[in-house]
Amino acid sequence: MARLEDVETFHNISFPGHMHTQKSLSYATSFQFQDSDIVIITYPKSGTTWMQEMVSLVLNRGDPTLSTTTPNWARAPWLEHYYCPQVLCTARCPRVITSHLPHQLLLPALKASKAKVIYVFRNPKDVAVSYYYFHKMAKFLPEPGLFDDFLDKFLEGTVHYGSWFDHVNGWTNSVEDIENFFHITYEEMWQDPRSSLQRLCAFLQRPLQEEEVASTLKHCSFGFMKENAMVNYTLVPQDIVDHSQGKFMRKGKIGDWKNTFSDVQSHRLDTVFKAQMQNSGLTFIWES
Ligand code: A3P
Repeated sequence: MARLEDVETFHNISFPGHMHTQKSLSYATSFQFQDSDIVIITYPKSGTTWMQEMVSLVLNRGDPTLSTTTPNWARAPWLEHYYCPQVLCTARCPRVITSHLPHQLLLPALKASKAKVIYVFRNPKDVAVSYYYFHKMAKFLPEPGLFDDFLDKFLEGTVHYGSWFDHVNGWTNSVEDIENFFHITYEEMWQDPRSSLQRLCAFLQRPLQEEEVASTLKHCSFGFMKENAMVNYTLVPQDIVDHSQGKFMRKGKIGDWKNTFSDVQSHRLDTVFKAQMQNSGLTFIWES
């Protein structure tokens, strides 16, 4: 199946042109956030959809009606996608907005507001593998070729949305610049969903009753989300996301990178990681 070849370059970072335009990227970077907004920020393949689902369920007190009838991109649109203004004009309050933009592009707009910002990140080996397999099915991303070649690009930061290292360093260093900032890892959400949810509820100031907690945990579990067409991207036409090449809800695990990385590749990432993340003060979980 043919690839959608368009690429949009904005401030030296490439984006899939099929969803991004200079206009949509400028719209995002000069966006006027409302203090009531909830903004989910991630590097691709770090648990974006999972967090969108969790936030959606928390706001609906565990009631899955909305999350099983409305696609995630209509509940929590990507700010930088061309269709965002259209979705936001009818969005209920609080608006939930998603973004993959790196901090240097979005921070100036965010700093001016009291919007609640949620940053989710994941260990880069699992991100690289998840992103690689996603490239195989997402026809709006370039053909990834061999994993070894893809890994080179990932480590150089020349994949779409730029460098994972800059993204994570940039956003996690922005804690002081953003009034309401919460960060959590994919691995924490995976290892302890209940306390991750409780931390999220506390940040959002939306406490839940026990049965609402139970319903939220059930509906944002991997098994449930895998079957939910509103989040598993099966609603997207085949020429954009080709489900014959894989599943969006692929493995949903910590440490799956071991099935794809060779020892040499793992060492290569470790070397770059050490150089770029040594001052981050962040802790990463690489296996379950
Ligand atoms: P894998 O490809 O490793 O399976 P994003 O939403 O940022 O694109 O991230 C997609 C990744 O998150 C995929 O990882 C997907 O399976 C995983 N994921 C989505 N929902 C999940 C859940 N409820 N529990 C665990 N992993 C989940």
